[in-house]
Amino acid sequence: MITNIVTVIRFILNEKEIATDLPPGTVLLDLIRYHEHLMGTKIGCREGDCGACTVLVGEIAFGELRYESMTSCLLPIGNVNGKHIVTVEGTNPSPGSGQVLNPMQQAMADEGATQCGFCTPGFVVSLAGFCLSDKQPTIDNAIAAVDGNICRCTGYKSIERAAARVTGLMKERNNEDPVAFAVKKKMLPDYFSTIKDRLSKLETIPLMTHDSRLMTVGGGTDLYVQKHDEMTQAPIRFVFDDPAWNGIKKEGNTCIIGASATVSDLKNSSVINKAFPDFQRYAKLVSSTPIRNMATIAGNFINASPIGDLTIFFLALDAKLVLSDGVTKRELSLRKLYKGYKTLDKKPAEYIEQIRFELPTKGSFFHFEKVSKRTHLDIATVNSAIYLQIKNELITEAGLSAGGVGPVPMFLQKTSEFLAGREINDETITGAIEVMKTEISPISDARGAKEYKTLLLEQLIKVHFMSVLSS
Ligand code: FES
Ligand code: FES
Repeated sequence: MITNIVTVIRFILNEKEIATDLPPGTVLLDLIRYHEHLMGTKIGCREGDCGACTVLVGEIAFGELRYESMTSCLLPIGNVNGKHIVTVEGTNPSPGSGQVLNPMQQAMADEGATQCGFCTPGFVVSLAGFCLSDKQPTIDNAIAAVDGNICRCTGYKSIERAAARVTGLMKERNNEDPVAFAVKKKMLPDYFSTIKDRLSKLETIPLMTHDSRLMTVGGGTDLYVQKHDEMTQAPIRFVFDDPAWNGIKKEGNTCIIGASATVSDLKNSSVINKAFPDFQRYAKLVSSTPIRNMATIAGNFINASPIGDLTIFFLALDAKLVLSDGVTKRELSLRKLYKGYKTLDKKPAEYIEQIRFELPTKGSFFHFEKVSKRTHLDIATVNSAIYLQIKNELITEAGLSAGGVGPVPMFLQKTSEFLAGREINDETITGAIEVMKTEISPISDARGAKEYKTLLLEQLIKVHFMSVLSS
C-alpha cells in the first residue's frame, strides 16, 4: 500500500507545538479531543453543518498572519501542517489579565445567548475569527462570521446582540493589524503576538508528494462526509496548501484558477468581483464561511454532485480544465467532464491542475440563482446559471446550466443553441423553457417532486431574463 512519504505533521495548537505521526487523513477534531483531550471543541453532526467543532486556522500569507474559521470535523491534519490552530481553550484570557471570560464569551453570557451551551464554543471561536479577520467591523459582517454555527435552543436574536457587542469593541481598530489590535484590547490572549514568529520558525516537512498513485484531495469537505472512515486511512496527497496550485489571476481576458483555490479565495478575488458584480450575493448562497474557507473549486467539479453550485456557475461560462497525470496534460471542457452519475471523463491518475475561462466582457451578461429549503448552509433543490453575449439586441452566444434536474450537473446544450440568434422577448423565453423540458430528467426525491423541480427551473429561467432586462 502506498503511504505518504513523510508522515510527521507539525503545527501549533493554541500555545503548544504538536508533532504527530498520525495518518495525514485523520480529522483534526479527533486529534484535538482524543489525543490532546481538549473537550471544548464539540462533536455535533460531523458533516460540517452545525459549527460545534469550529476552530481557527492561522497561517502566514504575504507576510501577514491571517486566520480563517474551519470545521475541524472535515479538516484532515494533512492540511494543517505548519499552521496555528485555535480551539475555544486557546481564546481564554491570559493568566493574570484579571479577566474571567474573553469579550466574546462575556458578550454571549451577558446577552443570554447561551442555554445548554453545546453550540457556544463554536460561536465564540467564530466571533474570535471575526476579530482576527480584516473584515470591516459591521454587525452584518459579525453575523456573517457565525453563518456556519447552528444553535438548537437559544434562538438567534440574543446571539445577534452578542455579535453586535463584539463589533462595538472593534470600532477603534482602523488600519491596525487585527492580531495586534485583538491582543492590545485583550480580546484574545497575549500569546497570539508570538505566533507569527513561532510559525516562521516551525520546522515542517511538506507533505505533498507527486506520486500519481496517491489520491489527490482538495478541501475534502464532501469526501469526509461520504467516506469518513476510508478517508482517514487513505493514501492521500493534499493540494489544499500547495502554493504552486493556488491563486486566481487574469492573463489577457482569461481567468486562471489554481486547483487549490477555495470558494473563499474566489469570494475575495478582485478579478472575480470585478467581472461578476453580484458575486458576493452568489457566494453567500454557497454553504457557510467555514466550509467556503476549505472547499476547493476543483473539488466541487470532481465531486460531480448534480447540484454543485460552483459547477453550475462554471458550466454556463464554458470553463476549461487542465488535467494532468503528473507527466502529460490535456485540456477538457467542463461541459464534457460528466459522463453519467459520478462518472467522469478522467483517468484515475488524472487531477485538475488549473481551471480557465474567459471573463465576461462588455455586452455579455451572467446570472446565477439557487433555490434551497434554507437560504444559507443548504444544498440546492435546483440551481441555474446563464451566460449571454448580446449584440444589437440579439443573443449571439448563450450558455445555460442547471443542477438538480438530472444525474449530473447539466449544461443545457439544446436550450443554449435555441437561444443563440434570438431577441429577448416572451416568445424566446417561452420557447427556451419548452426546449429545456426536453433535455432535463429530474427525479422525485426528498428535495421535491420532479414536477416541482421542472417548475422551479422554469421560474429560474424567467428570473435570469428578468435580471437581463433590468440590467
Ligand atoms: Fe458539526 Fe463539525 S461537528 S460541523
Ligand atoms: Fe443549546 Fe445553542 S445553547 S444549542
